[in-house]
Amino acid sequence: MFQINDNYLKLPGSYLFSTIGKKVREYSESHPDRKIIRLGIGDVTLPLAPAITAALHSAVDEMGRAETFRGYAPDLGYDFLREAIAANDYRARGCDITADEIFVSDGAKCDSGNIQEIFSLDNRIAVCDPVYPVYVDSNVMAGRAGDYDPDSQTWSNVIYMPCTAENDFLPDLPKEAPDLIYLCFPNNPTGAAIRREQLQGWVDYAMKTGAVILYDAAYEAYITEPDVPHSIYECQGAKSCAIELRSFSKNAGFTGLRLGFTVVPKELKCGDVSLHALWARRHGTKYNGAPYIVQRAGEAVYSRAGKAQLQEQIAYYRKNAAYIYSGLKEAGYTVSGGVNSPYVWLKTPKGMTSWEFFDCLLENVNVVGTPGSGFGPGGEGYFRLTAFGSYENTVEAVDRIRTL
Ligand SMILES: Cc1ncc(COP(=O)(O)O)c(C=O)c1O
Repeated sequence: MFQINDNYLKLPGSYLFSTIGKKVREYSESHPDRKIIRLGIGDVTLPLAPAITAALHSAVDEMGRAETFRGYAPDLGYDFLREAIAANDYRARGCDITADEIFVSDGAKCDSGNIQEIFSLDNRIAVCDPVYPVYVDSNVMAGRAGDYDPDSQTWSNVIYMPCTAENDFLPDLPKEAPDLIYLCFPNNPTGAAIRREQLQGWVDYAMKTGAVILYDAAYEAYITEPDVPHSIYECQGAKSCAIELRSFSKNAGFTGLRLGFTVVPKELKCGDVSLHALWARRHGTKYNGAPYIVQRAGEAVYSRAGKAQLQEQIAYYRKNAAYIYSGLKEAGYTVSGGVNSPYVWLKTPKGMTSWEFFDCLLENVNVVGTPGSGFGPGGEGYFRLTAFGSYENTVEAVDRIRTL
C-alpha cells in the first residue's frame, strides 16, 4: 500500500491568494455593477516591451526553420543569456560572478522552493516574519519545519526573525543559530530595503556561524537609493556563504513568460563539497531548461533598447508606488516601503485585523489588497498594496481609500 508524503497534510488552510480570489469572486458575483480595483497580487500589468516581443518573434522564426531550429536547451541555460546576466547584473556592479555560476530557470518561485533540496533535512531555517510564503511551505513539504502550532501560527523547527516597525522591518540577527537564512530585499511583503553595510553584517554573521544565506533579489530593479545593494555579492565574502535568486518577472514583465536564475558561486562549499555541483546535478536531473525563445527574450532585456524600455516601465510602477505611499500618508495612514520597492506596507487603521481591513476595503471602496497576516503572524495588523496596477486605477483606488 502506498503512502503519501504526509508533510503536505501539515500545511494549514488554503493559499493566501486563493482565499483572496474566492472573496473577490463572491463579492463581484453579488455586486456585478461595482468596479473592483485590484492592488493585491504582485503581478505586472504592462505589456511586454517592444525589444522583448521583437526578440520573441525572431526566436519563434528561428524555431520554424530547419537550419536554426533548436531542441532541448542546455540544462543550465544558453551561454548568450548567462553571459549577458554575468556582464550586466554582476560585473557592471563590481561583483565577480561568472557565467558558469549562473543557473537559468523558469523563475524565482520554483528556485526558491527547490533550493532547499540540496541541504540536509537536519538544517534549521530562519525566515523573516512576515515572509514570502514559499520559503516556509517548501520546507514544510520537505519535512524540515517541524509541527505547526495554530495558536502562534508558527512551525516548531523554524526560527522566526520578526520584522516590525521598531526595527524598520529589517530582521535582527537571530538568537539561535540557523543553518539556512532566507533573506529577501527589497522585501516582499513589507517593501523594506536593506543598506549595504547592514547586509554586510548578515554576510559576516553567516561566515562566522557557517550558515548559508538564500538571498532573493526578485525586486532589485526597484531600488532607487545608492546605498541599497542590488546583489548580495556587493558584500565582501558573500561568494563563500550566499546563493542569490533572481527573476525576470518584476523588472521585465515575464510573469507569464517565465524566466529567472540562481547564482551559486563555486566558492560556496560544505567541507570540500561544492554546492554549485549539487545544484548543477539537481538542475540537470530534474529540469530540461527554460525555452529557447524565452531565453532570447531574456537576452533582449539587456539590449540597449530593452534597458531603455524597461526603465520606462519601472518608472511607471514607481510613480504608482509613490502615489500610494504619499496619498495614504497624507490621509493619516502609517506607511512604509514603496521607495525601493513596488510594495507599500501600511498599518491597518483603528486596530482592525488584516482581514477585517481587507473586507472593509473590498466592501466599502471596492479595492483589493493583501492582508499582511497572510505572510505570517508578524504581518497581522498590516496590509500590502502593490504598484503594479495602471496609474489611473492606482489613483482611483487611493482616492477611494482616502474617503473612508
Ligand atoms: C520574493 C519573491 N520571490 C520570488 C517570486 C516569484 O518570482 P517568479 O515570477 O520569477 O517565479 C515572487 C513573486 O511574487 C516574490 O515576491
